[in-house]
Amino acid sequence: MTERRKSIHGSWSGRLAFVLAATGSAVGLGNIWKFPYIAGENGGGAFVLVYLVCIATIGIPIMMAEVMLGRRGRQSPINTMRTLAEEAGASHIWRYLGWMGVLAGFLILSYYSVIAGWALAYVFRAASGMFHGATAEGVLSIFGQFTGDPEKLLAWHTLFMVMTMIVVARGVRSGLERAVRFLVPGLFVLLLMLDGYALASGAFDQGLRFLFTPDFSKITANGVLIAMGHAFFTLSLGMGAIMVYGSYLPERTSIARTSITIAVLDTLVAMLAGMAIFPLVFLNGLEPGAGPGLIFQTLPLAFGHMPGGALFGALFFVLLVFAAWTSAISLIEPAVAWLVENKGMTRVHASVFAGIVTWATGLLTVFSFNLWSGFRPLSFISIFRNYTVFDLLDYLTANIMLPLGGFFIAVFAAWVMKRDDSVQELDMGDGAAYRLWYGLVRYVTPAAVLLVFLNVTGLVDFSDLLGMAK
Ligand code: PHE
Repeated sequence: MTERRKSIHGSWSGRLAFVLAATGSAVGLGNIWKFPYIAGENGGGAFVLVYLVCIATIGIPIMMAEVMLGRRGRQSPINTMRTLAEEAGASHIWRYLGWMGVLAGFLILSYYSVIAGWALAYVFRAASGMFHGATAEGVLSIFGQFTGDPEKLLAWHTLFMVMTMIVVARGVRSGLERAVRFLVPGLFVLLLMLDGYALASGAFDQGLRFLFTPDFSKITANGVLIAMGHAFFTLSLGMGAIMVYGSYLPERTSIARTSITIAVLDTLVAMLAGMAIFPLVFLNGLEPGAGPGLIFQTLPLAFGHMPGGALFGALFFVLLVFAAWTSAISLIEPAVAWLVENKGMTRVHASVFAGIVTWATGLLTVFSFNLWSGFRPLSFISIFRNYTVFDLLDYLTANIMLPLGGFFIAVFAAWVMKRDDSVQELDMGDGAAYRLWYGLVRYVTPAAVLLVFLNVTGLVDFSDLLGMAK
């Protein structure tokens, strides 16, 4: 058995701490803000089905692979990949996989923080009773006025970035572990409450039908890619966030069980959010494809009409901010860990530096909703016709960089790394469970990512097979 490496950044206090932190990373804006609006934009049921299949067959196996690589390498993803490539006698080029992850994390955080800023602002809007008795038009106009004001978006984005960098500067243990302990249960309770409200609203059936009746004639090749990309995004995969958290994981924790727990919790939160939102959409004659504003244009209606809505609304947005916070930290952790390891910076310096660069890049997103809202940089490519700068950043990271990262993580874990090493590290023997994982990571993940990519470019076409829209 090889000598076990240790992380210089410290480690989690135990399995529970890791589960909490990784769940905190996974559960975020992706589940509550993004999932409903992209499901709405891509026709509902068929999209949700593709997403669920991707979580089970790609997401969970890749999560296991990432945790495994992280725990074996015990460094930032860049250095982990370099060390493990050396160990396997493979090329140094593998460290660029770590680099792509750092870049993806930083780009994602640049817009993630702007949206988290919306959630922050909505805490105060809900608490002030602004939504009391509101109509659909009223809520739409509040949202429009808010996002139309670049100064406001900038201020909230700045506040969220500062909050994130403070926690990152303090390191993995303090704060982070504690925050998640009440966050996930709290989110469940409030989402269940909103689901109860939706259930009583009279349009619950319609919402469920939209989400869970697959109709492939409503989804395009690009929609399939978006569903797959979201499986990576929502589980924080393909960029090293889970890898770097895995590097702080104590030995002898079951990676398989842990990964399944996290994926199930994450999926449950997304489903609860979708089931709360779509009934409200249909009840109020709103547009399921309304885009990134969807939850900010629907949930305030529920809060505006339920007893105690100001309190519950404020609480809901507080929890959403916390969920975003624990995800944001993991987006920048790979970069910060690398700056500490290779540039000799202290955690505080590294955090400030990474924070400033990310904050500045966030301006691209801030302006996408106001000053540049009519700017469509790639309008000459048909699928990007209506994409703003923010939409493009999101597309590039979630639908291209993360699946590409996942593809290479799979190739590394199942083709480059020695099989004996993964047997040892996953620590579940060489039985059926291991073989299932190995088969999925070795064949299914790389093939699926490749096919979905090729399908979008039109080089292969399985739309007729499934009866998909063109
Ligand atoms: N999983 C997070 C969410 O759903 C976003 C995220 C993506 C975090 C990639 C880390 C890495 O909100």
